Amino acid sequence: MILNNITDNSIVSDLRAWTLTARQICDLELIINGAFSPLNGFLTEENYTNVVHNMRLMSGELWPIPIVLDVTDDFAAFVSEGIKIALRTPEGIILAVLTVSSIYRPNHIVEAERVFGTTDEAHPGVKVLMRQNNVNLGGIINAVTPVTHHDFTELRLGPKEVKTEIALRGWKNVVAFQTRNPMHRAHVELTLRAMKQVEAGLLLHPVVGLTKAGDVDHYTRVRCYREVLQTYPADSVMLALLPLAMRMAGPREAVWHALIRKNFGATHFIVGRDHAGPGKNKNGKDFYEPYAAQQLVQVHAAEIGIQLIAFEEMLYLASEQRYVSSSEVLPGQTVLSLSGTQFRAKLTAGEDIPEWYSPPEVVAELRKRYKPKSEQGFVLFFTGLSGAGKSTVANTVAARLLENGRRTVSLLDGDVVRQHLSKGLGFSKMDRDINIERIGYVAAEIARAGGIAICASISPYAKTRQTCRSFAEDHGVSFFEIYMDTSLEICEQRDCKGLYAKARNGKLKGMTGIDDPYEKPEMPELRINTTDMSVVESAEIIISTLRKAGNI
Ligand code: ADX
Repeated sequence: MILNNITDNSIVSDLRAWTLTARQICDLELIINGAFSPLNGFLTEENYTNVVHNMRLMSGELWPIPIVLDVTDDFAAFVSEGIKIALRTPEGIILAVLTVSSIYRPNHIVEAERVFGTTDEAHPGVKVLMRQNNVNLGGIINAVTPVTHHDFTELRLGPKEVKTEIALRGWKNVVAFQTRNPMHRAHVELTLRAMKQVEAGLLLHPVVGLTKAGDVDHYTRVRCYREVLQTYPADSVMLALLPLAMRMAGPREAVWHALIRKNFGATHFIVGRDHAGPGKNKNGKDFYEPYAAQQLVQVHAAEIGIQLIAFEEMLYLASEQRYVSSSEVLPGQTVLSLSGTQFRAKLTAGEDIPEWYSPPEVVAELRKRYKPKSEQGFVLFFTGLSGAGKSTVANTVAARLLENGRRTVSLLDGDVVRQHLSKGLGFSKMDRDINIERIGYVAAEIARAGGIAICASISPYAKTRQTCRSFAEDHGVSFFEIYMDTSLEICEQRDCKGLYAKARNGKLKGMTGIDDPYEKPEMPELRINTTDMSVVESAEIIISTLRKAGNI
């Protein structure tokens, strides 16, 4: 497959441009560098339908995952078949030009059923799919500017570079290992066994594009891989990073992974237990059988031109201090295992991680990134009517945290924020939402960097509060919604700013609780009524809640 580069920027700059999503950038990079060969663009309707239903392109070639350019209805309204559109990054860099040859509305439900085997949105891939734009544009891609990566540039090897390196090393057999996790001892055991079994060099090929929410970030993982690499025989491993956006599609994903690794020159591909597994469904059951991925890869291995190296679950046999596969365990023998979730829980609780599970160097790297909860940042988000006691209690809590802790505390008080960050905004629904979203965004950034952010503003709309929660939780940051549930009557009696009096006299419009709504939080982490409680008592309840949750 040959992709022509477009070099005439004057042509490109006149084109209508689509701003790519993070997923689309990952897909585009791998189309362009040949990792997705035989694809030479985004799927047309015919190819898409065939891929969804039969795992094949119209040419008959195997391709299990729909690679589509989804765009909004608004954008699609200006597109017709035959035109070219520029594909650019959010920063405005034009990466490629798409010659549109197909415009279609995909059926996401059918796609979910066929590709993921479910429409349950507990499946992370289904959840993403259901939020994709309504119109797909298909057609051939011409590259303009290579995707730039600023991190680990020496490890960002495309298929061409990896194949050249394999040739230089003189490897006859190359076994590829896919992972989206740090490598613990079970992973190392799989790869060492595979290398020995087929006398192969190892292509350690972790995914650094998009993986499952909550996974360890790739910066930390790459540092862990580098530590682990030292434990392999000299020159037996090549580490290359794959900017793939995973779909967590289990069996179909495993076939896709094998095809991609074939394109990088691998002769063998490891598939263990629950490969690319998305976790549990809404009924608490695994979406796929643990070995379904192996079975599907086996069916298609010869056609792909890669050999499957299948592994059962690896377990630690304590009595013999070694890893064995599940069928090697004899009756009565005790095996140890730790799920990824259990492992992460131990890490954030600051507990010891057993050496049989992970090399100490890997744990040390992970500990640098995953501080115990008591050292991580978090957000306290006060909401309630004007006069409910938000600012006073927030200030008291801030003082207590500063007296006793080493983390920075930033107070984002609604009135203060309106003097700088949100200067110029009024009190319309739109302006209030913008103000609160700004506060929530900044709070999440503060907490992500390890500080404590305390927000105190009326924040009357539930949806906007939810947005602020997502800003924090998407970074893995704890978010405590504290509802100051003081009655309007009491707030009005206090009327510390004189606003209620003004509103009643008709001198102030849009006062929350009087002529503007306050949507009560349904499930706040804490509900506090300051009517019969002192400020100090209210603050004490919050402090003890934080203590119980392990945040202080
Ligand atoms: S994945 O989403 O990339 O598949 P992970 O990085 O955990 O997740 O797994 C990488 C590969 O190692 C997969 O083929 C998986 O099946 C295999 N694997 C991970 N842990 C084990 C284990 N304890 N036993 C057997 N195979 C495993």
